Amino acid sequence: MIAKPSSALSDQFGRPLGSLRISVTDRCNLRCQYCMPEEEYVWLPRKSILSFEEIDRLAGVFESLGVRKLRITGGEPLLRHDLADLIALLSRNRISDDLALTTNGLLLAKQAGALKAAGLRRVTVSLDTLRAGRFTRLTRSDRLADALAGIDALAQAGFEQTKLNCVVIRRFNEDELIDMIEFGRRARLEIRFIEYMDVGGATQWSLRDVVGKKEILDRISRHYGSAQPLIPEDPSATRAPADRFVLPDGTTFGIIASTTEPFCRGCDRSRLTADGVWFLCLYASSGVDLKDPLRAGATDTELAALIRATWSVRTDRGAEERASIPERTALYELQGLRADPHREMHTRGG
Ligand code: GTP
Ligand code: 5AD
Ligand code: SF4
Repeated sequence: MIAKPSSALSDQFGRPLGSLRISVTDRCNLRCQYCMPEEEYVWLPRKSILSFEEIDRLAGVFESLGVRKLRITGGEPLLRHDLADLIALLSRNRISDDLALTTNGLLLAKQAGALKAAGLRRVTVSLDTLRAGRFTRLTRSDRLADALAGIDALAQAGFEQTKLNCVVIRRFNEDELIDMIEFGRRARLEIRFIEYMDVGGATQWSLRDVVGKKEILDRISRHYGSAQPLIPEDPSATRAPADRFVLPDGTTFGIIASTTEPFCRGCDRSRLTADGVWFLCLYASSGVDLKDPLRAGATDTELAALIRATWSVRTDRGAEERASIPERTALYELQGLRADPHREMHTRGG
């Protein structure tokens, strides 16, 4: 069934419900220090994880309220068995303009072909360093070669417009900006540098370790010559988190300045966790459970009414609020984080 958009839905700041990030698992095969630094984690109970049919149904309800961009996230989404089947279901039934995936790439070499065939449009790979020793220290895994093979497999499978997300951290990879841009050029991917954020899970976050947009730009411009801002042709792109730039030779890259220049004003994103809790903001301390009403037999109309009522009173602007705190430290210490696994970045999908 194809959902028809109903009358436009806006939150309290006039922001539409435009983009839905769907996490399909809270598990990950890496342990990045800025996201999963602990030795042990509390996982979502298996029985609570939404089936593909449940996800597909919720996606349809969201689309009926205006969502046009779907992004599959995790944890690491490729750990979810038969993910290509979900992609096939979503691309068959949906009216969204965009169906994308954010992955660490380790399992892409095996799955890229099937994902493409199933109808996935775009992929973003998260990779913070090209140096094997650093990769191992950051992720507690020695599988850099698998991530690189995964990136190769994307082009072979016919994916275009691939992006690479690189979180920049002081004294860790701040000296790899140029290497990353060169890698992106060779592999035909657009690099996006992300400022280190104080989100749930980043229990060791410190403002000292953030390399801000201005400094990233200065470092790149010093090497290549001045990077010029690219004005988006498509006005809806102004809702995307990255500011894009072009170098004198035409190479483009992006910076996601969520820490120093938050972009909440235009934020049309929300997040569905693998167990069906819907979050209105990356920083929100709690979300709205959609799984229980779904499993209790709510109709699409009832689910849409719940989503509409929730979005229409939304006032979230988490990153802007964090930016206004003078002595800013980690959002949650371990104890606060443990109060609810949904506070973890790896549960709500990055
Ligand atoms: P496209 O621009 O359509 O490719 O999607 P995207 O940029 O939303 O996708 P991606 O998953 O690559 O997001 C990039 C990164 O930006 C995320 O991993 C987060 O670190 C950050 N980010 C994404 N959405 C938000 C958001 O709503 N708020 C904040 N503060 N940061 C976000
Ligand atoms: N700061 C910035 N980006 C983060 N991500 C996860 N945790 C953080 C953080 N603390 C990014 C990952 C990936 C995406 C899903 O979220 O690197 O690109
Ligand atoms: Fe949107 Fe919240 Fe991110 Fe701001 S912090 S851009 S409101 S998700």
